[in-house]
Amino acid sequence: MMEDIASHIMDIVMNSVTAGAKRIGIAVEKDPRTATLSLTVTDDGVGMDPETVRKVQDPFFSTKTGRKVGLGIPLLKGTAETTGGGFELTSAKGAGTTIRATFDCRHPDLPPLGNIRDTFLVLVVSHPDVDFDLRYSVDGRMLELDTKELKRELVDVPVNHPEVIGFLGKYLDEHL
Ligand SMILES: Nc1ncnc2c1ncn2[C@@H]1O[C@H](COP(=O)(O)OP(=O)(O)OP(=O)(O)O)[C@@H](O)[C@H]1O
Ligand SMILES: [Mg+2]
Repeated sequence: MMEDIASHIMDIVMNSVTAGAKRIGIAVEKDPRTATLSLTVTDDGVGMDPETVRKVQDPFFSTKTGRKVGLGIPLLKGTAETTGGGFELTSAKGAGTTIRATFDCRHPDLPPLGNIRDTFLVLVVSHPDVDFDLRYSVDGRMLELDTKELKRELVDVPVNHPEVIGFLGKYLDEHL
């Protein structure tokens, strides 16, 4: 088991980056009525055929060369399912992938959220060519940030410019 949700996000989103995604949506949302926390990651990367979709949910499969064991997806699935939640993976070759995991917040083994702020910041600034649609809504804290819009406003200033990183960090601190 990974120690927090933020580590799962990093792993699942890095899969999207490796799959060549140019646009990645990440949503972390808690529904107070049902005490359910959900994590949804959507990408427009290369996608997977139905056989791969089935295999990647098995911990003994990976397309990474030199390795037989891929762990990111099975670990998230396992964490969601042991906390009484659910896991869904939909993908189509050439179209992209959506992964959605839900967790029951009342379960004693629910992992902590971890450092979502740093996870979002590192993902955005280390992949300047990828647009991230970030959504967060947990216990009254809310964020909706589409880096495509941010980049449009920045015009020629790169998203990984030190001043932009500083601004982004502050913005995340205010909203998360
Ligand atoms: N978003 C995605 N788009 C396309 N293929 C994906 C995506 N996510 C996962 N895959 C495929 O599923 C495989 C398994 O992913 P998983 O994260 O479980 O393991 P891994 O990335 O191979 O290794 P690890 O995460 O343990 O370093 C990947 O090797 C890749 O082939
Ligand atoms: Mg992975």
